[in-house]
Amino acid sequence: MDMNMGANMNNQTVIRTQDINLWYGTTHALTDITMEIQKNKVTALIGPSGCGKSTLIRVFDRMNDIINGCRIEGKVFFNGKNIYDPDIDVIEIRKKIGMIFQKPNPFPMSVYDNVAYGPRIHNVTKRAHLEEIVKKSLKLSALWNEVEDRLGQSALGLSGGQQQRLCIARALAVEPEVILMDEPTSALDPIATAKIEDLITDLKKQYTVVIVTHNMQQAARISDYTGFMYLGKLIEFGKTVQVFERPEQELTENYITGRFG
Ligand SMILES: Nc1ncnc2c1ncn2[C@@H]1O[C@H](COP(=O)(O)OP(=O)(O)OP(=O)(O)O)[C@@H](O)[C@H]1O
Ligand SMILES: [Mg+2]
Repeated sequence: MDMNMGANMNNQTVIRTQDINLWYGTTHALTDITMEIQKNKVTALIGPSGCGKSTLIRVFDRMNDIINGCRIEGKVFFNGKNIYDPDIDVIEIRKKIGMIFQKPNPFPMSVYDNVAYGPRIHNVTKRAHLEEIVKKSLKLSALWNEVEDRLGQSALGLSGGQQQRLCIARALAVEPEVILMDEPTSALDPIATAKIEDLITDLKKQYTVVIVTHNMQQAARISDYTGFMYLGKLIEFGKTVQVFERPEQELTENYITGRFG
C-alpha cells in the first residue's frame, strides 16, 4: 500500500512561476511563463532544441544568476516565498532544490565522499551520522547494492549510469524537496536509462521531480504533467495524458506527432 496515496490525491503547489521573462543580452529566451509544479509529481518539459527548457529549469533554483548578461523579470514562489526576493539565501534554495545535469558530473573523489560532500558543507561532522546519510542516499538512488563494497574507490571508475545515480544520491543527501533534472538520461544507454526512469517514479513518493527531456516516450512514460515549450513560450501545460492524447494547441500536436522538432 502506497503510504503517499492520501497526500497525492490533493494536489499541492510547490513551485509557482508568475510572468517570468528572461533575457541573455538581447535574446529574449523566456516569455511570460506562468506555471505550477505539483508536489510528489513528475513534471516534464518538452520542446525543440533552443526553445528554453534548460533556461526555465535553471530559473527554479536561480542557476541563471551565474550567467553573465542574464536578466530575469517576474516571480518564482517556492512554498509561497519568492526566491528572487533580495533577502533570499541562494545556498539554502539550492539545498532544497537540487539539480541533475545531462552529463553525470561526479567529483574526482571517492563514492563515499561524493555523497558526503553536501552534508559536510552543511555541517554534518559526526562520522556515524554521515555514514547513515551516505547509505540512505545510495539506497534511495538504487545504487547501494552495486557500490557498498567500493565506497572508498574513485567515483570516476563507475559506469555512466552508475555515475548518474551517484549524482542523484549526492543531491538526495542534503534532503531536497525538489529535484530538477536536465536531460538526465540522454548520455546513457537504454538499460541505464530504464533504471533512472524507474528511480524517478520511485522518488516522487518523497520528492517532487521536474525533468527536461528530448524523448517524448520518456515524458509520456514517467511524467504526470507535461509542459510543451516553443520559442521561449509555454505553449501548453497540463496532465501528461491530456497533452499527448488530446492536445489543445495545434503546435503541440504537430510537435508530438513528429511533424517538426
Ligand atoms: N548562456 C547563454 N548565453 C546566451 N544565450 C543562451 C545561453 N543559454 C541559452 N541561450 C539561448 O537561449 C535560448 C534557449 O536555450 P536553452 O538552452 O534554454 O534551450 P533548450 O530548450 O534547453 O535547448 P536544448 O534542447 O538544445 O538543450 C536559445 O536561443 C539559446 O541559444
Ligand atoms: Mg537544454
